[in-house]
Amino acid sequence: MCGIDGYAGKRKAAAILAQGLIDLAYRGYDSAGIATIEGPRIEIFKREGNNSPEELYKRVSGLTLAGTVGIGHNRWATHGAPSVRNAHPHLSQGKRVAVVHNGIIDNFKALRAELEHEENASFRSDTDSEVLAYLIERELNFGALSLEDAVHTALAHVEGAYAIGVICTDYPDQIVAARNSSDLIIGVGEGELFLTSDEAALPTEANLKAAMKDGDIVTLFQNGQFHIRGHSEEDKKRRLEKVCIMPGQSRLGNHAHFMLKEILEQPEALRNALRGRIDLAHETVRLGCFTPEVTRQFRTCDRVVIIGCGTSYYSGLAGKLYIERFARVPVDVALASEYHYSDPIFTGREVVLSISQSGTTADTLNAMRLAQKHGVLCLGITNRVGSTLAREDDGGVYLHAGPEKAVASTKAFTSQVAVLALIAMKIAQIHGQRIDHALLRGLDALPSQLELVLRHQEQIKALAARYKKAARFVCFGRGYAMPLALEGALKLTEIPYFDAHGYAGGELKHGPLALIERGVPAIAIVPKGPHQEKMISNVREVVARKGEVIALVTEGDQALNGIATEVIELPEAPEEFISILAVPVFQLLSYYLGLERECNVDRPRNLAKSVTVE
Ligand code: AGP
Repeated sequence: MCGIDGYAGKRKAAAILAQGLIDLAYRGYDSAGIATIEGPRIEIFKREGNNSPEELYKRVSGLTLAGTVGIGHNRWATHGAPSVRNAHPHLSQGKRVAVVHNGIIDNFKALRAELEHEENASFRSDTDSEVLAYLIERELNFGALSLEDAVHTALAHVEGAYAIGVICTDYPDQIVAARNSSDLIIGVGEGELFLTSDEAALPTEANLKAAMKDGDIVTLFQNGQFHIRGHSEEDKKRRLEKVCIMPGQSRLGNHAHFMLKEILEQPEALRNALRGRIDLAHETVRLGCFTPEVTRQFRTCDRVVIIGCGTSYYSGLAGKLYIERFARVPVDVALASEYHYSDPIFTGREVVLSISQSGTTADTLNAMRLAQKHGVLCLGITNRVGSTLAREDDGGVYLHAGPEKAVASTKAFTSQVAVLALIAMKIAQIHGQRIDHALLRGLDALPSQLELVLRHQEQIKALAARYKKAARFVCFGRGYAMPLALEGALKLTEIPYFDAHGYAGGELKHGPLALIERGVPAIAIVPKGPHQEKMISNVREVVARKGEVIALVTEGDQALNGIATEVIELPEAPEEFISILAVPVFQLLSYYLGLERECNVDRPRNLAKSVTVE
């Protein structure tokens, strides 16, 4: 995904745009660039690399750019390598138009060829986005009556997903924005307007917002007014809402990195996910999305399908165990990117749960849309109010975890697993099963127990120093700990870039044990419970082959003392919730290993926070 921002008002735009790109950096940081209208010209500044937003801010802050209308862009490269040449904004042939774009122009090759052939166009980059600037300028040359008209007719030639911002020297007092399946928000301040890909990046001066919808073309004027093409003033006023994100909530504060901030926020995030949804007195669960129709569908369904990507997919594996154990309803968990193209079988008696922290992951959205096309009820589980997922699902549950800016999904995972446990308990109730009071109490107690787990920071930091040069990591667990073994391996892969693998403990002897050799760290999740004895045997198999085991055990359990190289004790809790309780160990280990290996823990190489392209 990429980040877009824009400013039209009375203040100088350059520094405002560059700060907005810093707040959007989690969406992409291969490069960053801004363009402002400076009298008869468009001035463009670009930087490349992981710290490009900050470097761009430093660069433009020292300049005397007077322009008060401009656009900005953070790039996660899809077409064309990460480079200044391919960084947005892109200029048109005659340099009268500048464009920033999030999405993919599917027919850009044909459009480039047409422009080269008919307009003798010569392109400066390898990107798909650049054709937009040329198309819009061509419409102006053809006599379009306004920048809005030029954008409208130009987009008629375009196939694909886009959120764009456009400025033009012929219309120096305005930005034109357009949206087709990539988020774009208008922020309204006192006599000034902001454009952004994410509400969380709006500055404190924006006290109202309007989310753009697919097909919208909006003109933002320097005088602080905006116009939605084809909509009345009343329509427009109906779109205006208060800005939900508290100013600064998405800022780093006094933390070293967003990743650590968000790991440490998990107890509070979990309290927010559970708040008002557990009724211990009546041993019941309250979830607003279970309307009579949704309840009826869950009562009559004979299968639940859970779809997601990455960490969200792994939280779905935990959800499967909950729903099948609590409600006795069969569950399939599918990688959204596979599900969408697997020609899935629909019997008319399934319900879908689609999980996405950002609510903008293209794979998950497209998989959900496919199920909806077959008339399947799809509930969404997301952290982003008003996101595409939240707007397109048939109801759902918000995580309320607060903005998650680090690329590594941490507090979203624990909240997703907790919400899936609540949904499983709700389905159990609908199917006449009684909710186990001890489980409900155990879920309710988790936020405080997470606080205890987070006290292991120093012990985990020392482990990172010890294993920073390890050849690889192997993570393994059984039952409810199995999804955690996979999620833990993903954290160790995407942040410190280890060759890390997650397995069911019982699988080790069927091949993965070959990965163990002297000094290889293996993280074993061994809580008290039905799998403990077998897990202890797995630990012995690893130790016998000179592997070094880091064992996560229930506090007070001595079974692995003297066998495992390191033991990390976790509070006593129902083993069903081990994925929530133990995941901070993996998150913190991943974070500190990332620091030891001088990785950019908030902006790991090649990745972005949410992938809004397939
Ligand atoms: C998780 O740490 C990764 N950054 C990634 O796997 C992520 O979970 C995945 O891209 C799905 O994102 P979503 O939850 O926003 O859909």
